[in-house]
Amino acid sequence: MYLSSTEQAWLDGEGGPALKRAMEIIVALGNIYHAERLIPIKSVQISGVSYRNLGAAGLDFLRRWAAEGAQVRVPTTLNPTAMDMTDWAAQNFSPDFAQKQQAVVDAFAQMGVGAGAPIPTCAPYLIGNRPEPGDHIAWAESSAISFANSVLGAWTNREGGPGAIAAALTGRTAAYGLHLAANRRATLYVEVSAQPRTIADYSALGAWVGKRAGKHVPYFAGLALERDEALWQDKLKALGAAMAATGAVALYHVEGVTPEALAGPVLAPNPSHLVVDNFTPGYTMLSDDVEAIDLIWVGCPHASLAEIERVAGVLKGKHVQIPLWVTCARPLKEAAIAQSFASVIEAAGGHIFADACMAIAPLRKLGFEAVATPSAKGAFYLRNLAGVAARFGSLAQCVEAALTGRWPEGG
Ligand code: F3S
Repeated sequence: MYLSSTEQAWLDGEGGPALKRAMEIIVALGNIYHAERLIPIKSVQISGVSYRNLGAAGLDFLRRWAAEGAQVRVPTTLNPTAMDMTDWAAQNFSPDFAQKQQAVVDAFAQMGVGAGAPIPTCAPYLIGNRPEPGDHIAWAESSAISFANSVLGAWTNREGGPGAIAAALTGRTAAYGLHLAANRRATLYVEVSAQPRTIADYSALGAWVGKRAGKHVPYFAGLALERDEALWQDKLKALGAAMAATGAVALYHVEGVTPEALAGPVLAPNPSHLVVDNFTPGYTMLSDDVEAIDLIWVGCPHASLAEIERVAGVLKGKHVQIPLWVTCARPLKEAAIAQSFASVIEAAGGHIFADACMAIAPLRKLGFEAVATPSAKGAFYLRNLAGVAARFGSLAQCVEAALTGRWPEGG
């Protein structure tokens, strides 16, 4: 793999041990994927932030890298933590866990992530880290990767946790995979013959297609979605997140909607074919057969302000019997407070928590065993990572469950 003289010097240790380690990771990845060179990147999104998943060894690794002088070279944002960084006690986290989770964020802050004050979120594109079409970036959160590639038209692979940190420290990534135009063409033609209406329907569609797509690049034809309709980006956010969870889809195109599909033909020769005529299988494949629900979780991926407004609208005048938590980036929580959506949600007994992702939280330790969510990705990881039972359904079904503590009959 070709390296510039600067890159070679960094690899030889001339920029210090932190940069040398980062270069070793980037070069190793490049060699594995037969990249010919490195390319400069505009931004990075780092994943792997929950102390529950990192543990003491992960925290120690980050602290040592930071202590060696590691500093990011490009704007870098941080994935969610397990908890609201200020309101964790209301989520029942222990002070010990909170202290360790804070130490993880502090290590990233020391490296210059978030300009030294990271705002944990898996939807960085909603709070300013919003790449332009054609920008090369190195993101590690699968739902954000899908959104950046597909909806924004930026170019990124599915980076791993250490790979993304290394990219942030070097400002470079190896030129392979979705950084090459030839790999961005659609290889799976998805004919949608029933129209998804809600965000949850898009999520169910994504769950079903993702399971069949694997690493394919899907092309959706027949979706009645317009770029100027309400919530169109939230619908695609849900679609992409689900496909990234049940499959390994990092890029998809939607006829007449996504930037690369609008710019010209994107279908590869002889694509595979898939027809979707209803969304029930997408809902049922991620639901456990549990009736009693003890937590409702909305905001996977992190909710936009429009989604928070929608939750407030559905909850207005009601009162929930079990916890209902909405997760989002902190600036959007502040906006929700300013626009009174938060007070409506709180009056109904719900809460908005910033920074947090419940799929990477120690949910059983927090006292939860069965969680309902309108997110396919959320349900997938609740079952496979958090180790709790999950129900995946519409927002209306989830709110109904919140009012009774039981999943609605026939839902
Ligand atoms: Fe975000 Fe966690 Fe969902 S990182 S996409 S809220 S599983």
